[in-house]
Amino acid sequence: MKSLSFLVPLLVACSSLIPGHAHPSLPKKHVALFIFGDSLLDAGNNNYINTTVAYQANFRPYGETFFNYPTGRFSDGRLIPDFIAEYAKLPLISTFFPSYNDQFVYGVNFASAGAGALVETHQGYVTDLKTQLSYFKVVEKQLKQKLGDAAAKKLTSEAVYFFSIGSNDYFIFVRNSTLPQSYNSKKEYVGMVIGNLTTTIKEIYKKGGRKFGFINLAPLGCTPSARLVSPGNTGSCLEDTLELAKLHNQVLSKVLQELESQLEGFRYANHDFYNSLMKRINDPSRYGLKESMRACCGSGQYRGMSSCGGKRGVEEYELCDNPQEYLFFDFTHPSEKANKQIAQLLWSGTPDVTGPYN
Ligand SMILES: *[C@@H]1O[C@H](CO)[C@@H](O)[C@H](O)[C@H]1NC(C)=O
Ligand SMILES: *[C@@H]1O[C@H](CO)[C@@H](O)[C@H](O)[C@H]1NC(C)=O
Ligand SMILES: *[C@@H]1O[C@H](CO)[C@@H](O)[C@H](O)[C@H]1NC(C)=O
Repeated sequence: MKSLSFLVPLLVACSSLIPGHAHPSLPKKHVALFIFGDSLLDAGNNNYINTTVAYQANFRPYGETFFNYPTGRFSDGRLIPDFIAEYAKLPLISTFFPSYNDQFVYGVNFASAGAGALVETHQGYVTDLKTQLSYFKVVEKQLKQKLGDAAAKKLTSEAVYFFSIGSNDYFIFVRNSTLPQSYNSKKEYVGMVIGNLTTTIKEIYKKGGRKFGFINLAPLGCTPSARLVSPGNTGSCLEDTLELAKLHNQVLSKVLQELESQLEGFRYANHDFYNSLMKRINDPSRYGLKESMRACCGSGQYRGMSSCGGKRGVEEYELCDNPQEYLFFDFTHPSEKANKQIAQLLWSGTPDVTGPYN
């Protein structure tokens, strides 16, 4: 099995041999984790930006399973990168906001709920991917000041860069039926979304980044919020939305393969989140879950309204007794239990689910 962690012991050994760059807070044995993307990964950045509650989860019952208080994570507990950090023997990765701190040597979480790869997506309410990249550059400068150029360079070039982005760019297709619906214009749109992701990857590569991790798009047409608006109120998955996610995922796979052949030393793990979730949706009990269509928290059919917590316009909502039995905690976000399963697949999944490296 190919593993992105294969370089770690060697690099750790070297780091202690570089004289003059020893620093008490430089992680000796760890590889930093830099996190970019949307609500699947946002550990609380949006608590600090001027946005609306639509893109915030800093109220109960979010966070109740693990943290016992709302952290801003869109789940009952931990998110995928929280588990990855644990497996990599890192502390929980700090959010970029509110400010620089010593923990940034373990990496930084820049993700912002509601964000897309396109600047236009929820513009004014989220930190888009391009801005997240600019924050990474700020952190890189801060690390240089703190650790010295060589050690900072080493940290950023050994780090893993983890992405979940794209879902929010496609939601306008669900909401707005007057948008172009033809396959070709959709393909063009997907090209633009992935083009902007590719630009970000290349910028990080230029800064020395070599190891990348991705989760592809979920089956966006089968979330509780999608079932809520199914035509004829049947609760079935939205086929058009599924097709769009599939198209995105096909292009993403292809582009990553191209980058690997174009960029010397570029290594990546791409987790097939679409199929992992689909398998759980179709056969929850096989994965220790009881409910894969309805959310744990929310209101309306399938609890598909984004009313979890009662702060987003609708005050009434239902909350299940045990989020661990549910695939979805709220209208679109996985429960902690699901996040943990996905993180395990990212960490040690076979090449058919996470590849070419894990
Ligand atoms: C926050 O956003 C609102 C609405 O977009 C705007 O009216 C307000 O001035 C903003 N506040 C700050 C501090 O930027
Ligand atoms: C839908 O898209 C069209 C064309 O881009 C735009 O003119 C219209 O304002 C949008 N409607 C909504 C509800 O967003
Ligand atoms: C990035 O997105 C913008 C729209 O925000 C688009 O005009 C541009 O072509 C995209 N870039 C690439 C490389 O696709």
